[in-house]
Parts: sequence; C-alpha cells; structure tokens
Amino acid sequence: MKKLTPARRLWMKIRMLFISDSPSGARARGKLYEPYLPECGKNFKIAAQAFIYNPNKLRVGDNVYIGFNSYLGEGPITLEDEALIGPFVSITASNHLMKNGSYRFGGFAEDPVVIGRGTWLAGHTCITAGVRLGDSCLVAAGAVVTKSFPAGSVIGGVPAAVLGRNSTPAAPPDETPGQ
Ligand SMILES: CC(C)(COP(=O)(O)OP(=O)(O)OC[C@H]1O[C@@H](n2cnc3c(N)ncnc32)[C@H](O)[C@@H]1OP(=O)(O)O)[C@@H](O)C(=O)NCCC(=O)NCCS
Repeated sequence: MKKLTPARRLWMKIRMLFISDSPSGARARGKLYEPYLPECGKNFKIAAQAFIYNPNKLRVGDNVYIGFNSYLGEGPITLEDEALIGPFVSITASNHLMKNGSYRFGGFAEDPVVIGRGTWLAGHTCITAGVRLGDSCLVAAGAVVTKSFPAGSVIGGVPAAVLGRNSTPAAPPDETPGQ
C-alpha cells in the first residue's frame, strides 16, 4: 500500500478532472484509489465527487460502489463485498474529543465502521463511528445510524431504528457490466 501524501492527493485530483461521469469513469476513479488502500477487491467503483479522506484506512471487498458526492472520513472503515453506498452518504469512523472546553483542537478517537456484504446505504445517510452493519441490510434515505444492527436489518430515521427485515440473503456476485 502506498502512503497518500499531499502531493499524491493533488496528482489524483488533477487526474480525476479528466475522468468522465460514466460507469467506466467510476471504475477509473476506483483504480486511482486502489494503490492507497490496505485491501481492495475487484471492480471497485467510485462515482464523481466522492471523497475518501484517508484511503490508507479503507478496506474494500469485491464489487463495492461508492455513490456521487459521498464522504468517507477519518478512521478505519471496511466495506465488504458488494456494499452499495448511495449518493451524499457520510461514513466517519472517528469522533472529535474535547480539550479545554473546545472540540477544535481536542484530537479525535477512532472507532471502526464495518458495512456488511450486499448492504445498501441509501442517499443522504450518515454512519457514525463504531457502527457495524451486518450483511444484506438496507439503510433508508436520510437515516443517521448511531448503533450497530444485525444482518438483514431494514433501518431508517434519526437516530436509525428498525423498519423491517430483509428475508432474502444477498444475491450471488453480479457481474453485469455497468453495475
Ligand atoms: C427504504 C426504502 C427503499 C423503502 O421503500 P419501500 O419498500 O417502498 O417502503 P415504503 O415506502 O412502503 O415504507 C415502509 C415503511 O418504512 C418507512 N420509511 C420508508 N422510507 C423511510 C425513510 N427514508 N426514513 C424513515 N422511514 C422510512 C415508511 O414511512 C413506512 O412506514 P409505515 O409502515 O409506518 O408507514 C425507500 O424509502 C428509500 O429510502 N429508498 C432510497 C432511495 C435512494 O436513496 N436512492 C438513491 C440511490 S442509491
């Protein structure tokens, strides 16, 4: 794994200016990030304007997709096979700490986030530090997830609570071009 220095980040950003918004562009963005990830499966795709703050702490399985304008913040994050991250999603695996009555310079504490196989984070969801979602979960649009949920959970709201359950397991890997 290469360390992501500010110079390398700048070079990546410049290259991204020339990548299209098509599915092949999403794959090209995935390939740009790949050398900086500790683990990366096949077919990693990233839509336009998504931003990974610290790729050196992001583990990615096979066929993972990150949607438009999503933000993956500081701390260890694992996206298992076929995790589907929608648009405008925020995942951050750390919290600021208070020092002298202020959060500004208090540093931060990491708490890993894990998104299970085949789980879908719909648009505008927010996943906070320490959350572990099992396989085949659905997080409804706009949810703020503050605690962990087991496989098959359908959750939504602020803070997220159970709306229902997915009875079917995630389908086998989908190799359909463009997905
Ligand atoms: C979660 C979702 C898939 C559910 O769709 P659905 O199966 O048609 O479910 P329904 O609309 O029948 O709603 C079922 C229940 O969940 C609730 N619900 C649905 N979406 C919700 C949400 N985002 N937040 C909170 N509650 C929600 C409904 O109010 C309803 O509650 P009720 O049974 O008490 O009336 C859909 O609401 C959603 O969030 N889609 C994401 C769309 C998106 O972000 N796309 C971006 C591309 S990745």
